[in-house]
Amino acid sequence: MCGIVGYIGKKNVENTLLESLKRLEYRGYDSAGIALVEDKKIISEKAVGKIINLEKNLENKEYTGEVGISHTRWATHGKPTRENAHPHLSCDGNIAIVHNGIIENYQSLREDLKKKGHKFVSETDSEVIAHLIEEFYKCDLKAAVLKTLKCVEGTYGIAVISKDNPEEIIAARKGSPLILGVGDGENFVASDVSAILGHTKQVVYLNDGEVARVTKDNFEITNTDNQKVKCEINQVEWSLEESQKSGHEHFMMKEIMEQPEVIINSTRGRLIIEDGDVKLGGLESVKDELRKIERIIIVACGTARFAGMVGEYMFEEYAEIPAEVEYASEFRYRKPIINERTAVIAISQSGETADTLAAIREAKRKGAITLGIVNAVGSTIARETDAGVYNHAGPEIAVASTKAFTSQITVLALMTVMFGRERKMSLVTGKRIVEEISELPKKVEKVLKQKDQIKKLAEKYAKYDNFMYLGRKYCFPLAEEGALKLKEISYVNAVGLASGEMKHGSIALIDKNFPVFAIAPKDSVYEKGISNIEETKARNGKIIILTTEGNKDVERLADDCIYIPKTLEMLTPILAVAPLQLFAYYVSLSKGLDVDKPRNLAKSVTVE
Ligand code: AGP
Repeated sequence: MCGIVGYIGKKNVENTLLESLKRLEYRGYDSAGIALVEDKKIISEKAVGKIINLEKNLENKEYTGEVGISHTRWATHGKPTRENAHPHLSCDGNIAIVHNGIIENYQSLREDLKKKGHKFVSETDSEVIAHLIEEFYKCDLKAAVLKTLKCVEGTYGIAVISKDNPEEIIAARKGSPLILGVGDGENFVASDVSAILGHTKQVVYLNDGEVARVTKDNFEITNTDNQKVKCEINQVEWSLEESQKSGHEHFMMKEIMEQPEVIINSTRGRLIIEDGDVKLGGLESVKDELRKIERIIIVACGTARFAGMVGEYMFEEYAEIPAEVEYASEFRYRKPIINERTAVIAISQSGETADTLAAIREAKRKGAITLGIVNAVGSTIARETDAGVYNHAGPEIAVASTKAFTSQITVLALMTVMFGRERKMSLVTGKRIVEEISELPKKVEKVLKQKDQIKKLAEKYAKYDNFMYLGRKYCFPLAEEGALKLKEISYVNAVGLASGEMKHGSIALIDKNFPVFAIAPKDSVYEKGISNIEETKARNGKIIILTTEGNKDVERLADDCIYIPKTLEMLTPILAVAPLQLFAYYVSLSKGLDVDKPRNLAKSVTVE
């Protein structure tokens, strides 16, 4: 997804921007660019592909700059070409802009601007912003930006510089995340805190409809009517080291291995074992309303949605609240029947996923109480929901979500206890769940020790072009998650199914070249799952079975087995997901693919 960094201050502007831009590489991008003001001119350079290509273009030019903006682009309107890469310049080359988001009325604006003589060089929606500012510019850059914002429809996070105003960057946000990094004699504008952590941990999160004028020693924020608004400087807790790989070859492996610690962090200070209860500070403010809810709808995308499916089963089984999970992208366009007795829970690692955010806004409009299960502190979803629980999983850099999934299920288990204990859940049941949650980190550690064995298994199966994942009840969402992991980083065609559904069509796919990965722990639906595995065995399918330690019964059916420790059925996904993640990781590795940055994908999907 596109990234923005702007810098004004005492350091070399070019180097600072390039270094900060590299910290956004994990978000996924296909071209990059930079614009600086130097000696009363705008200097701009762009390149298709990695930032290193941009660096090559800048070699031996020795720019220093007084102020600058930079961008990593993930193509939406127009192909990934040099022309379409940002920054975009005004016709006279005096103004440069970078933009995240989508300008929905760009076609009509472009036509109007062309009639006024503006020349466009790209196919992007973003370029209209540079020309509009040029049209309105009369020495005051901010005034021209404000007028521009009144003309555009859609979403934006923008940073703007002008050769005549080298003492400032103008930044504005609507629907696309943007922060200010506050330093000593230097200030930053960025789309993501990771970009600036090496320089400052003090940040201001801009809200939708806010516009900032940033100089090297100061910043001021107004609304789009130029009225001053109050802001707060926040201290970011993530360290720069936390954003690095800690000695692992890839972020994905680092994040898989962090899962025991992530469970500890997600539950720290939240378990009250003696009362069989939990304490979720982020939900205190809405506790009375939550007591009255009659229905839960979970909205999320991708992996977060699979975590939500586990939550759905937990809420119904233990809290006795009717629950359902929706694709956020569908929810926003339906006419969901919701009222003030409905809690709509958004699950999102990034807290910036456009569809999930839109779903939450729609739910709010309809009067539901909205809650967030979000990892990125201060993100838009975290701020726009009525209340919520942070995952505290730390930054997740690999595009494939791993530790966030585990922390999402952990938080959902905590919420289940909270909802349940407010209703009919007994002290004994509450205690059993909370005690078992506290045992999970050790058990996940044990699962992760099988890393090398799973590596061998993955190497053995890497030659297959197709895979079917099967699971029942709490393990059905895992079948989907296992298949998604394999697809996204190994480019293997994989389908995740509820075991019982297989015989309604998909079983036709099974033959000796179409292996099955069955997730069948010894739980209440184990026998049913085994019958489905028998059905695939009869079609000569190769079978990997993931089951509970000590269950030797499956060995007669399986070509290969993976064992996980016993836990409560509702918590099994937390133990069973690591082997699926490791399997996908090693298949990808053995194919020589880019594990952390798979093709066509972005870490956070901030467009519809
Ligand atoms: C999972 O590996 C994905 N990269 C993707 O499905 C992701 O979970 C989804 O885009 C939702 O992201 P979010 O949690 O940041 O909202």
